[in-house]
Order: sequence, then C-alpha cells, then structure tokens
Amino acid sequence: MSDHLTVVDHPLVQHKLTLMRDKGTSTAAFRQLLREITLLLAYEVTREMPLTTRHIETPMEEMDAPILAGKKLALVSILRAGNGMLDGVLELIPSARVGFVGLYRDEQTLEPVQYYFKAPEGLKDRLVIAVDPMLATGNSSAAAIDLLKQAGATDIRFLCLLASPEGVARMKEAHPDVHIVTAALDRELNSKGYIMPGLGDAGDRMFGTK
Ligand code: URA
Repeated sequence: MSDHLTVVDHPLVQHKLTLMRDKGTSTAAFRQLLREITLLLAYEVTREMPLTTRHIETPMEEMDAPILAGKKLALVSILRAGNGMLDGVLELIPSARVGFVGLYRDEQTLEPVQYYFKAPEGLKDRLVIAVDPMLATGNSSAAAIDLLKQAGATDIRFLCLLASPEGVARMKEAHPDVHIVTAALDRELNSKGYIMPGLGDAGDRMFGTK
C-alpha cells in the first residue's frame, strides 16, 4: 500500500477475483463477476470524494446533510476491456459522465496510437476515473492518461482489476499524481506482456472472443 497504489484486500473482492482467474469460469460468469467486483472497487476509488452539505427537512426536523460537492465525476473507459468495468461503476454512480479512449499498438514502433477519443466537457473540474481491467506494461494506460491531461483533466484516478509491478512502475514514472486502485498486484509480466499468474486476456474472456 502506498500513496500511489491501493490494493483492495476485501474478502469479497479477493473471492470474486479467484473465480475470475479460474480458466473454467464461463464468459457470462466472468462478465457478471467483473461487474460485481468493479462495484466494490469503485467504492474504494471514490472514498475521498469531497462533500458539502445541503439543507433538507427529514420527516422529523431540518438538518444540514452531507452531499457530494462539485461537478459529476467523469468515468473514462480505455477500450475495449474498460467497457466491462463501466456497468459496475455506473451502478454505484449512475449520474457519472462517460468518456472513451481507444488506443492500438503500432507494430513497427510498438507505441500506442490513438484511434478514438471522446470525453465529457469540463474535465478540469471533475474527478476523472480511468478504467481498464489490466495494468500490464502500463504503456497504453500512461498514453490514455496523457490524452486525458491534454484534454484538461487534473484530478485523475486509475481503476483496474489486476496490476503488474512493471505497469505500476511505468505509471508512477509517467504520472506520479495518478492514484491506482486494484484488486491485486500480481508477480510479473511474461515475455508477451501478459500478467502472471493473471487471468489471461480480459477482453477475450469478457466478450467471448479469441
Ligand atoms: N491484457 C490482458 O487482457 N491480459 C494481460 O494479462 C495483459 C494485458
């Protein structure tokens, strides 16, 4: 645990993650578990959202009651696997604005190239939560955060399911201001950039592709 990284060790999160890692878990169950686990992770990533008060009347008396301050938060899915986490966060925060970042890896340069970017207005005044289940090399995550910063975002958090030590280090170097919340920090990346022990290709497992 550090200022830069929170590993959510809640028993429900760890239990659901084990079911997701298991290669025998079906596509439907994987998708459902991802939604459920994201809801729990979203609880953690929003823990420090600022509050203000609103004057209300309960059936009993008046009170100044806590309510979220500022603009609605912006949720940004890093395509395509990030979409599997959207539902979970939106269940907890239905009024969130939603953006998308699409990046592919150029096979010559191995650098991430943008093919889609659409973000809610007023990013600079919103808490921005970028979601991508797998923080592997960290290259596309760091590039996505670059794009969000270019679009004005200043308060960004990164929500993932699994992180590698390499990905966390890459993000810390590129974006030390971006706090990462994850369900687990795994051992390492393999030579193909997969997280070990991991859960395989998150996009393929949630969408039933190969
Ligand atoms: N992306 C995935 O889906 N899985 C990994 O292990 C690494 C990157």
